Amino acid sequence: MSHAEDAGTRRDFLYYATAGTGAVAAGAAIWPLVNQMNASADVKALASIYVDVSGVETGTQLTVKWRGKPVFIRRRTPQEIEAGRAVDVSTLTDKTAENANKPGADAADQNRTLDEAGEWLVMMGVCTHLGCVPLGNGSGDFGGWFCPCHGSHYDTAGRIRKGPAPRNLDIPVAKFTDEKTILLG
Ligand code: FES
Repeated sequence: MSHAEDAGTRRDFLYYATAGTGAVAAGAAIWPLVNQMNASADVKALASIYVDVSGVETGTQLTVKWRGKPVFIRRRTPQEIEAGRAVDVSTLTDKTAENANKPGADAADQNRTLDEAGEWLVMMGVCTHLGCVPLGNGSGDFGGWFCPCHGSHYDTAGRIRKGPAPRNLDIPVAKFTDEKTILLG
């Protein structure tokens, strides 16, 4: 892990390994635990994981490790939703949703979120430039995420707005299985 990634990890979240070998507490904030229904020894546990998001407050982000990479699960504020929806897709660097759940959709805010209300944004926490982990919590010039490695700014929908990254942050296959549980993969 690079220094920048490490800094991002410490600043933004507690980081739970999917292998179940223990959690690394890296900040003062208390974050929800991630529930994994599959045993860690089961190979399938790497392919799909259940995440309990019941403790994720509005305006915070939970990060889980899935298939060896961080996944950001953000519960957006009304202001973040509004800002994301106000953007004209034609002005974007990447005009596609990059959403595995909506192949071919354009990058409208509504095509990026997991729910229709636009509260839940689930994305790979991997900068599309060279793979650093962007900083969250309203970072960057567009109130979303900022990758300090080479200065890529993502907006409140995780869309690239400025800097060298070529694509919006990728949205993995994900869905709600009940009100408080998201299934990744
Ligand atoms: S890896 Fe993120 S800007 Fe280069």
